[in-house]
Amino acid sequence: IKEQYILAIETSCDETAVAIIKDGTEIISNVVASQIESHKRFGGVVPEIASRHHVEQVTIVLEEALNQANMSMEQIDAIAVTEGPGLVGALLIGVNAAKAIAFAHNKPLVGVHHIAGHIYANRLIKEMKFPLLSLVVSGGHTELVYMEKHGEFKVIGETRDDAAGEAYDKVARTLNLPYPGGPHIDRLAHEGEPTYKLPRAWLEGTYDFSFSGLKSAVINTIHNATQKGEQINPQNMAASFQESVVDVLVTKTLEAAKEYNVQQLLLAGGVAANKGLRSTLEQAFAEVPEVELVIPPLSLCTDNAAMIGAIGSVMFDQGKRSEMDLNGNPGLDL
Ligand code: KG4
Ligand code: ZN
Repeated sequence: IKEQYILAIETSCDETAVAIIKDGTEIISNVVASQIESHKRFGGVVPEIASRHHVEQVTIVLEEALNQANMSMEQIDAIAVTEGPGLVGALLIGVNAAKAIAFAHNKPLVGVHHIAGHIYANRLIKEMKFPLLSLVVSGGHTELVYMEKHGEFKVIGETRDDAAGEAYDKVARTLNLPYPGGPHIDRLAHEGEPTYKLPRAWLEGTYDFSFSGLKSAVINTIHNATQKGEQINPQNMAASFQESVVDVLVTKTLEAAKEYNVQQLLLAGGVAANKGLRSTLEQAFAEVPEVELVIPPLSLCTDNAAMIGAIGSVMFDQGKRSEMDLNGNPGLDL
């Protein structure tokens, strides 16, 4: 059978990324240009700056991806691109680049969902076995997604307020840590002990999450200490916050995996890079050996285009196509 090559583009937030994926599972090239340095001094992603960077970077990153693969556009079977969710101006750059390439080279176009991409990062390291459950934890999303077959996603639980990564970044800011704060909290947490009593939102009877109460509790504890002229211990605060987040995520994920009788649990999204989350999930799932735990390498957890190529390949095989009126959709549903 002839091989299939997908060229994938991702520009939904602050990484300009292009990848080439063979047969939906093999990374031929995977180039990511991060803008983190440009957003750092603002303490978060500035949408207008993100769009401008994407415009400057997208053709450079595209050429680099083709060069690294030693391929030309003629060998590509289809173009996959993140159509949403994300920052609308950022999405538009990727979508328009994808449309231009598809039109110029007469290639099929497939618009894909960013979160579906995060989940499919797992397919680049392991064959997916259904039914499965995916815990998606990123800067914009915290979701438990159930899948019975390729390309079909059922959200069984989600955050009612802040995403896990968002809570990490806001708490980090209160502790005067640089953006993005997740990795810094993770590092500090391992140097401290969970000595602060912080709340856990269990939302019993649902697989939903809530992190804004926890975030506020951290901010209030720091604020009250400062007013009394006391110092808080950042390592211990990071450890306490991380324990609270990880405890709720892992407990609810394990419960859902058992209830839905899944074969696999796939971890996905930027917060999947968290060492505390990874090790606690490993411990918890060691007790249910019938569920295979899959955790992607760090480079496939944060935003990249390889994951977009992985889901794009499945959708292309399923006959899904986008037309030339494809638009960036910041609120796209899974
Ligand atoms: O998936 P991602 O790259 O972008 C979105 O689609 O949102 O996720 C970025 C998020 C940020 O909030 C960042 O702080 C968080 O992932 N993150 C982490 C870690 N590494 C990245 N959070 C906790 N621990 C980490 N080690
Ligand atoms: Zn993401």
